[in-house]
Amino acid sequence: PRNRIFFWKVTSTTLAPDGVTRPVLLVNDKYPGPKIEVNRGDYITVIIENALDVPTSFHWHGLTMRGDPWYDGVPGMNQCPIPAGTNFTYAFGTDNMAGTHWWHAHFENQYIDGLVGAMIIRDLPETDPFLHAYDEERIVIISDWYHQATGPLLTQYLSPASNGFEPVPNNGLINGKHTFDCSTVQPTDLPCKQGERALFHFLPNRRYRLRIINSSAAAPFMFSIDEHQLQVIEADGTDLNPIMVDSVPINAGQRYSVIVTTNQELKNYWMRAEMGTSCLPNTTTNLNPVILGEVRYRGAGKAEPTSKGRFNPGPVAKGEDAPVNPAFTDACEDLDLYMLHPLKPEPILEPLTHSVQIKLSFKRDAHDKVVRGYMNDITYSGDPWRPTIAQNLNESVIYEVDQHVMKIEKPGAIVQIIFDNSGGGEHPFHLHGHVFQVIAQGDGRYVEGKTPINAVNPLRRDTATVPQNGFTVIRFKADNPGVWALHCHIEWHVTTGLVMQFVELPKELRAMGIPKHVGRLCETGPPKGFKPD
Ligand code: C2O
Repeated sequence: PRNRIFFWKVTSTTLAPDGVTRPVLLVNDKYPGPKIEVNRGDYITVIIENALDVPTSFHWHGLTMRGDPWYDGVPGMNQCPIPAGTNFTYAFGTDNMAGTHWWHAHFENQYIDGLVGAMIIRDLPETDPFLHAYDEERIVIISDWYHQATGPLLTQYLSPASNGFEPVPNNGLINGKHTFDCSTVQPTDLPCKQGERALFHFLPNRRYRLRIINSSAAAPFMFSIDEHQLQVIEADGTDLNPIMVDSVPINAGQRYSVIVTTNQELKNYWMRAEMGTSCLPNTTTNLNPVILGEVRYRGAGKAEPTSKGRFNPGPVAKGEDAPVNPAFTDACEDLDLYMLHPLKPEPILEPLTHSVQIKLSFKRDAHDKVVRGYMNDITYSGDPWRPTIAQNLNESVIYEVDQHVMKIEKPGAIVQIIFDNSGGGEHPFHLHGHVFQVIAQGDGRYVEGKTPINAVNPLRRDTATVPQNGFTVIRFKADNPGVWALHCHIEWHVTTGLVMQFVELPKELRAMGIPKHVGRLCETGPPKGFKPD
């Protein structure tokens, strides 16, 4: 194991990833931001220089932060924000966390404005089951994209005029790139010139591992490469029994690794990320939902691909043998749970200690008509400058209603969460600090003891979709002291309060103590005039 040190400068500037210039926030002047790539077991140190004129914080999505809960990056839960113009150092281990992960800002909605990047924890040769399964690898970051900064979009969203409809993306990007038709740009005076597509240069007859990350604010995507099958080998860091598909639905916050073999005709092919626009609020938009990248076989020249559609489009019944062809509308749902099983089997977590049903809902406030998201009729509006972890460690445990806390005090408790989503819209739910088991997922209501569960070697991941008018059931074991966020990864819904937190093993957490420099962050207090959303 090695110590890996990264220096990051966070700045505010303008950029035109798809040819349309807009304000952005960047780490080290890059979008997507710098990649963290280390070996499993390495120790990571990230030194942040916050050169913004607002606070910030960073989260390491996919890492369980065992032993380092105060570096998980959620203001209001496990740290205070990093004040403007100051430095802060994150430091954490990566044991047992091999996989395709990502990092993003977790202060307000800053990640939508550009503070995202890949975080690859490479498995060690002696334990990597796929060491000989591929020759090379590429990172593919897919994201929705907006032509305005988050500030004005939020003002609109959080006004009565939005009717509770989330901002609609203007485009999508693959590795921070795509084209845009400037004749449709809104408002028409935005500087616009032809953008570029992401290019993937592949050698014929080789096997490429694509590490696909959806860093969207909201949109799910269906990923495919024309005339090629994809062998799915990893979901959110969990190695899988490989399955063949022709396309993979990937929701905001999720990751998949697929192996693609370049054994097709020597020509160029489209890589497609089809945005699940049917899962987004139904508002008129100029959006072209098919985001394209180009796969160029060496020797095929630079001609634009002429390939058409996915490998073998058409509906196939769920549960049928591979390759499977998720219909385009299935971008709103996860890959069929029953097809995905970890390569390293683990029994279902039993017996249950807690089972909580969480009902998701949205309401517009009767008074100001502003939309709020509720988990069991509580909407989160925690104060970023009064993090739960600090309250906890001061032993003056103040749990306020608007902090939406659930406490788990028994070490090893098995917690089940039943997400009950009777409302419209799907929600990719992410739990910090854990890799959970996905026990059930489907349409309608979950009935304990009646709805069939995925009891044999269930999928383990950290972000699972709760389908529109449906349910998802997850389980995890309370063995990681910390304050862990559970929230919808549609970033707009985080703002409306579709967030809660687990205070896990508070006694053990208190015994760990809080590093001095983390505590010090809170001493500065909120900047003058600071007003949380
Ligand atoms: Cu990727 Cu709390 O987030």
